[in-house]
Amino acid sequence: MKHIAILGSTGSIGKNTLSVVETHADEFKVVGLAANRDVDTLEQQIRRYRPALVALNEPAAAAQLSERIRDINCTQVLAGTEGLQAVATMPQASQVLDGMGGTAGLLPTLAAINAGKDIAFVNKEVMVMAGPLVKAAVKKNGVNLIPIDGEMSAIFQCLEGARDQQPDIHRLLITASGGPFREVPKEALYSVTPQQALRHPNWKMGQKITIDSATMMNKGLEVIEAKWLFDMELSKIDVVIHPESIVHSMVEWTDGSTLAQLGPTDMRIMIQYALTYPRRLSAPVPRLDLMEARTLHFEPVDFEKFPCLSLAYSAAEVGGTLPVVLSSADEVVVAAFLETRIRFMDIPAILARVMDAHAVIADPTLSDILEVDRWAKTTARSIIKNKKIMSQASY
Ligand SMILES: NC(=O)c1ccc[n+]([C@@H]2O[C@H](COP(=O)([O-])OP(=O)(O)OC[C@H]3O[C@@H](n4cnc5c(N)ncnc54)[C@H](OP(=O)(O)O)[C@@H]3O)[C@@H](O)[C@H]2O)c1
Repeated sequence: MKHIAILGSTGSIGKNTLSVVETHADEFKVVGLAANRDVDTLEQQIRRYRPALVALNEPAAAAQLSERIRDINCTQVLAGTEGLQAVATMPQASQVLDGMGGTAGLLPTLAAINAGKDIAFVNKEVMVMAGPLVKAAVKKNGVNLIPIDGEMSAIFQCLEGARDQQPDIHRLLITASGGPFREVPKEALYSVTPQQALRHPNWKMGQKITIDSATMMNKGLEVIEAKWLFDMELSKIDVVIHPESIVHSMVEWTDGSTLAQLGPTDMRIMIQYALTYPRRLSAPVPRLDLMEARTLHFEPVDFEKFPCLSLAYSAAEVGGTLPVVLSSADEVVVAAFLETRIRFMDIPAILARVMDAHAVIADPTLSDILEVDRWAKTTARSIIKNKKIMSQASY
């Protein structure tokens, strides 16, 4: 039986992970859970799975949770960054699943790797910000780093048996649904609302990643993630629009052969594979019926309509701390859009401003990365506050 700790257990990925655990209760035991401040959901999860250790990032929420589960003796509650790191490194866990969104996952993930845990990770921001540090820590500690994010899992699966054959790869093809605005003309994007942007055609996910899908920043972050995760030159990573989201990504080899991974749009498949790798177990998910799907479409990306993708390629090209700036500022900008403080096309405009203002550190340490993360967020907040917005929308 594998003992797992889940970071971000109250989110979309966390809940799907617990559903996989339910399905294979004889395979997995949940020993640790962590989240930000969702006391209600975490309490329910504690009562159901009885983990040894849980943590909430927000101290007040952790205190409230402790009160609520006074009747449960087997679970210890911790708070703050130390609490998250304690769950990530707990001796009882052999594998840690990082399902937290954003920067918050960086320190716990590195701590888990350094504690010798195998990592199943979906938090692309961690890889975007600190890919080289994460890869070095993985190598040093001899642990497995298994992606869950659909596109990264697809490529990981296509590379099975050929992990170190990078020179034989012609290119990676990352598929993108195109999001809710694939067919919306660029001019109309200036006035779209958060509600419209949150209506993803194929996937049900957390808010941040859903907005990132609408701007195609999500694909941009995946391009950077793939660069680090698969040690791939940027010029060999392409994005292709595939509205059906059935082909989750592809590897094209130098001999002209292309391998693809196909499946239904259900994250439980990727989560389960990351937990059972290299085994495969049955899963209670809808089967892919190609007779029903019948036609698969592929089209090029419109970089002009989705400038976030160009920004991500530029950040990846320059490297160093520029991807940190992009990813960290994006967290602030997406939150501002969700609160209707800025408009949709302000997102790339503000990100470009923050990136332009940054003096890149070529080979950053962890403390450089954390410092740049703070700087990028503060700079983005200040641009938003002063309404120095660049998009052509008038206020
Ligand atoms: N959802 C998907 O299908 C999907 C697919 C591919 C990739 N991903 C990636 O998976 C990650 C999570 O996405 P999601 O959709 O599951 O997001 P979500 O539903 O918003 O969940 C985020 C989780 O992280 C926790 N969290 C956020 N900030 C935290 C902090 N400062 N400290 C501790 N915990 C924190 C949240 O806790 P609270 O609930 O307490 O706030 C929640 O448990 C993202 O990196 C996303 O890009 C998701």
